[in-house]
Amino acid sequence: MHRGPRCAVILASISVCTLASLVAADNNDDIATGERLAAFLRAGRSVISNHQDLINNASIGKKDLTGQRVVTEALQIYAGRQGKSASEEHLSAQDQQLFDAQIEALREVVDEHQQEIDAKGVGFKGFIPATFARLVNERFEEKVGDRAKMKVTAPEDLVRNRKARPDAWEQRIIESKFLSGEWTKGRSFVEEVQMDGRNSFRMLIPEYYSASCLACHGKPKGEIDISGYPKEGGAEGDLAGAISITLFR
Ligand code: HEC
Repeated sequence: MHRGPRCAVILASISVCTLASLVAADNNDDIATGERLAAFLRAGRSVISNHQDLINNASIGKKDLTGQRVVTEALQIYAGRQGKSASEEHLSAQDQQLFDAQIEALREVVDEHQQEIDAKGVGFKGFIPATFARLVNERFEEKVGDRAKMKVTAPEDLVRNRKARPDAWEQRIIESKFLSGEWTKGRSFVEEVQMDGRNSFRMLIPEYYSASCLACHGKPKGEIDISGYPKEGGAEGDLAGAISITLFR
């Protein structure tokens, strides 16, 4: 008696499963590429964060926090988190080009800020992980923007820097997925879409506030933080933003 409907349900779920796995298989390389770029950006931010006290030290002039040093330490952090070094990954020529462009972007941004970093008598210099990451992403785009783009964005109402404003796709995914309450924390979202008139693979990776972020992004909302922006009133674990990666076909 229940046979008919049950078959239909089974059939429906099989076809859905098959479709999902096909899509997933198709995207696997792109997902790996996106995750690698995000992981290295995060490693770079961690290096800046690890040296934040040094950077902000007003009494030391020359700090030897060179682009090369930041790249070396970022590659170490990356290898530690990924369980293998970048050179052991045997990347395709295309992936290697993107990774190299990112490495160069990191190096150039740090080297170009040596005077600022080494400024004696200045404490907070504004050279923080978020600003560093934005500059690295902008430089990355200058190098390989015809093939890939990266950006750290945030929900529209939280955005500090105008350049970080979410586009329509990013805002839609942030609202409908990441802020929906049903989204598994940390899970990224990927989709094939048209962007700038081109077939593109887009990936959005959510990021959350940890305790260390709250000195600037926490409470009381509206109070001006050390970087000169009003605090967002965020709490630990709240959605802070997202790393957005686009790979053009
Ligand atoms: C010292 C203050 C400070 C701390 C600490 C800090 N941020 Fe920020 N954050 C900023 C500033 C300033 C910007 C804008 C940077 C820029 O684009 O130049 C920013 C930008 C961002 C952005 C990009 C979107 C936007 O609003 O422009 C995200 C996402 C973000 N922060 C998340 C975090 C997270 C997560 C942490 C903790 C891991 C953190 N921040 C720690 C000051 C801070």
